[in-house]
Amino acid sequence: MTSSERLVLGIETSCDETAVAVVQGTVIRANLIASQIDLHDRYGGVVPELASRRHIERLAPLVDEALSTAGASPHQLDGIAVTCGPGLVGALAVGVAFAKAFAHRADRPLIGVNHVEGHLYATIFADGPLLLPALALVVSGAHSDLLWIPAPGKYRRLGRSRDDAAGEAFDKVARLLDLGYPGGPAIDRLAAGGEASKVPLPVPRPGDGSLDFSFSGLKTAVARAVAAKTYDPADIAASFQAAVVAHLRGQTERAAQGHRPAALVLAGGVAANRLLRQALAAVATRAGVPFRVPHPALCTDNAAMIAAAGAARLARGERSGWDLDAWAELPLAAPEPGRSS
Ligand code: KG4
Ligand code: ZN
Repeated sequence: MTSSERLVLGIETSCDETAVAVVQGTVIRANLIASQIDLHDRYGGVVPELASRRHIERLAPLVDEALSTAGASPHQLDGIAVTCGPGLVGALAVGVAFAKAFAHRADRPLIGVNHVEGHLYATIFADGPLLLPALALVVSGAHSDLLWIPAPGKYRRLGRSRDDAAGEAFDKVARLLDLGYPGGPAIDRLAAGGEASKVPLPVPRPGDGSLDFSFSGLKTAVARAVAAKTYDPADIAASFQAAVVAHLRGQTERAAQGHRPAALVLAGGVAANRLLRQALAAVATRAGVPFRVPHPALCTDNAAMIAAAGAARLARGERSGWDLDAWAELPLAAPEPGRSS
């Protein structure tokens, strides 16, 4: 059997979405997400214990529903893929414990998946297998990484955020503008009616020639613009978004020039951003390589991407033991040799 035919159950509980999917090759047979936004909204952020408890309540019925939507029985599965990090460790542990019990009972292989690798594999549903070597920008609520992918399952980190993640910056600026959570989609919408030239904001530029990112100075500048009370919120949103995108695009373009990839990949929740998608598509065009980005609905957390990443690892003969654990920190890639970041 080839990897493209593998039928895999994916389970994702790393943060505040309980997600379950059944994937066969590049076909998504079921993709269910139970969001917890309502639960955490009143606290202004995700409360880890509440997230874990809600995962416990939702996961088993969601797995049943996904299997019945996909028309698959546990014994037909070629594997069970589960996010084992990085994320909230208690939330991850719910998914990992469930996946172990389920895989053991069905006598099917278990495979632990790194959440960030999952984001990268969300691209296969639109575009087929990853084209390597690839340069990838993964931008989410927790990560902003520039990765070099020389071969399947091999990752080198070229750059990362020195402070906030890109999505975190979107969420914090959305809070300054009273737009609610998650802030990225709200800023994306508001910015469409604003003018980026109306609010002067600095595009971050690390002076040391590194490929790292930094968003905290920009966030402070936005806070000042909001406090001035002289700008239209739509113009602030447009200016902030333009500055973030210019920063991400600039560093990605420099990395593309230095590394000569066969494809440029954009993934993670912030990859749903319309301006960022356009900007990185243009970088790929200038570099003369294909641009790979998931459908906007598959950019944010889901379990189809976890199943896809797990299927690729299973196809290479990997599987996890019954001692699979959950890790709050789980680096996908080592820093570039000779670099400290
Ligand atoms: O990948 P994800 O669902 O969760 C993490 O792994 O962190 O990413 C969520 C992040 C949030 O910060 C959210 O505001 C951001 O992705 N996001 C966006 C957009 N849609 C989601 N940011 C900018 N523009 C968007 N359209
Ligand atoms: Zn994510």
